[in-house]
Amino acid sequence: MSGPPDQVVDVLLCPICRQGLTRTVGSLRCATGHAFDIARQGYVNLLGAATGDTAAMVADRAAFLAGGHYAPLADLVAEWAAGCADGLVVDAGAGTGYHLGVVLDRRGSCGLALDASVVALRRAARAHELMGAVVWDVWRPWPVRDNAAAVVLNVFAPRNGAEFHRVLRPDGTLIVVTPTDEHLAELAGPLTVDPRKAERLAETLTRFELVNSQTLRYPMLLHEDDTRRVVGMGPAAHHDRPAEQGAGTVTASFLVSAYRPS
Ligand SMILES: C[S@@+](CC[C@H](N)C(=O)[O-])C[C@H]1O[C@@H](n2cnc3c(N)ncnc32)[C@H](O)[C@@H]1O
Ligand SMILES: [Zn+2]
Repeated sequence: MSGPPDQVVDVLLCPICRQGLTRTVGSLRCATGHAFDIARQGYVNLLGAATGDTAAMVADRAAFLAGGHYAPLADLVAEWAAGCADGLVVDAGAGTGYHLGVVLDRRGSCGLALDASVVALRRAARAHELMGAVVWDVWRPWPVRDNAAAVVLNVFAPRNGAEFHRVLRPDGTLIVVTPTDEHLAELAGPLTVDPRKAERLAETLTRFELVNSQTLRYPMLLHEDDTRRVVGMGPAAHHDRPAEQGAGTVTASFLVSAYRPS
């Protein structure tokens, strides 16, 4: 595996000394000599001990996404991303790279999938030829140059507003997807309700100006397996309601927001 595309390697920084990284046979290296293996599956682990989603959660997520249930969301995000400035897309908490892959297809630009889960990034590294996958904890300063990205994506994943701002070009766009309170409500009932969710989103993105926002809501007809998977891949709150799991119609409901750096 050759690892991330050149346009992705060009923006990466050594996590130890923050110098640029270059590709050598089987690894990425900085001028000081810190070296990071390119894994057989094509991802690069700059973090060391990885955390993030477990193998079971990732398997559930990959199988659920393969069913196309979130395709309307991926299409909407890709449509928005297609209208943004040319250049690199960085997806913070990219998981298996499902949404980023659809975005890269539409834009024809390169993308960097950052995630703390090695199992997720094994898939992301193979999800699209324009995608590079780097294991990283998005709460720490990212191993990515300032102003590297034309688009930062954040789909149901932790939001580090300061790093979004630093890596995004002044003409760039941040696209954030969060589930609304109605999302999967039939499965989780009142457990998902967080009355401060919108407020918390605004608090994490203080140096951004909201330029567009849309709620996407549609019914998903789920077989029993998909219901089990969507519960398995989600927050722990969903796991407490096994009695309500089964085949049926379940609401998908997302808030998609676009921001410019201010
Ligand atoms: C709900 S999944 C969403 C994945 C992907 N965006 C998607 O829509 O398919 C959340 C992802 O965030 C990752 N994650 C959680 N905490 C993280 C952290 N501190 N740094 C990087 N990734 C993290 C998890 O490993 C998981 O892949
Ligand atoms: Zn270094």
